[in-house]
Amino acid sequence: MHYYSLGQIPPKRHTQFRQPSGKLYAEELFSTEGFSDVYSLLYHLNPPTMIRQVGEPYSVAPKVITDNQLRPRCLKGFQIAPEDDYLKSRKPVLVNSDCKISLAAPRKSVTEYFFKNADADEMIFIHVGSGVLKTMYGSIKFGYGDYLVIPRGTTYQLHFDSEDNRLLILESVSPIRTPKRYRNNFGQLLEHSPFCERDIRKPENLETIDEQGDFLFYIKKQDIIYPYTYLNHPFDVIGWDGYCYPFAFSIHNFEPITGRVHMPPPTHQTFESAGFVVCSFVPRLYDYHPLSIPAPYHHSNIDSDEILYYVDGEFMSRAHVEKGMITMHPAGIPHGPQPGTIEKSIGVKETAELAVMIDSFRPLYMTEHTAGIEMPEYYKSWLPK
Ligand SMILES: [Fe+2]
Repeated sequence: MHYYSLGQIPPKRHTQFRQPSGKLYAEELFSTEGFSDVYSLLYHLNPPTMIRQVGEPYSVAPKVITDNQLRPRCLKGFQIAPEDDYLKSRKPVLVNSDCKISLAAPRKSVTEYFFKNADADEMIFIHVGSGVLKTMYGSIKFGYGDYLVIPRGTTYQLHFDSEDNRLLILESVSPIRTPKRYRNNFGQLLEHSPFCERDIRKPENLETIDEQGDFLFYIKKQDIIYPYTYLNHPFDVIGWDGYCYPFAFSIHNFEPITGRVHMPPPTHQTFESAGFVVCSFVPRLYDYHPLSIPAPYHHSNIDSDEILYYVDGEFMSRAHVEKGMITMHPAGIPHGPQPGTIEKSIGVKETAELAVMIDSFRPLYMTEHTAGIEMPEYYKSWLPK
């Protein structure tokens, strides 16, 4: 997060800023942690408060199907069925009180309504598809490999270029940030960070839409969707500045940190929140110690459930990996490469693997959507063949 400004803003905050007609612009402070963290100041043509109608709310709470948590799991993510509607397409598959991991294959752009997640920051990883994220801050073009990070409370629409879209969506009840250890006291990304501000794509093409009518919002709060109708178009901002805004970062711009011997997952860390970390495994050269073993060692993860979402390339540590596959290795039992893959990795110079890792500090639970896409015998996959 760093300072950014788009469009017109007054020279001093909280002062008179008038439209050509003489009417005052409506100033809005937007923050996700009260007045004590990052924020932006936005200038609307009209106040963002003019509710015309509140419709009947409905629940989208995921149904946890089992508390049998201590078992390695494997999900075939691309078996999640496509849906025309974006909100209907979002299927939570692994959830806890900190985060929800959903898979989605939406066919249609969001054009008839605006969505606002008041519960959680969203990280939308674009596995398949391209298009434009539209917000009151401006638009962000997205494509294969982009992480879209949308602060909670941001009203948005996703417009897709085609009907073939595959998304991995991570909702976080605490803010999603770049890793603190990669930032200096002023928030600037440090020299040893695997990416820097130039890699972070901010909103652009600010459109100021001056329309009144019935603008339908679906607002998600405590896993209930509230249909709201507002009088004013939400994208009526003439300018804004601040540190709080949606952004895109491409996994293809993540510069891997490599070493003479195996580097652990924190070197791949991309984002963090109070409840989890996100890591990017990208194509890279392998370890260059003369006796190095490129495959990872076995790992006893006692304090986090490890989720790996396979995007592309060959995976060194596991056979029969498909795109969109998710493995979950729960805290409490060791996991590691399948038999034979350690020896096979010796002497290999590079990997083309592309994957997103989510390590959740609290246990994750399966939902109604997980059952149909699970490989039930996965936990036996470390046995000798
Ligand atoms: Fe691990």
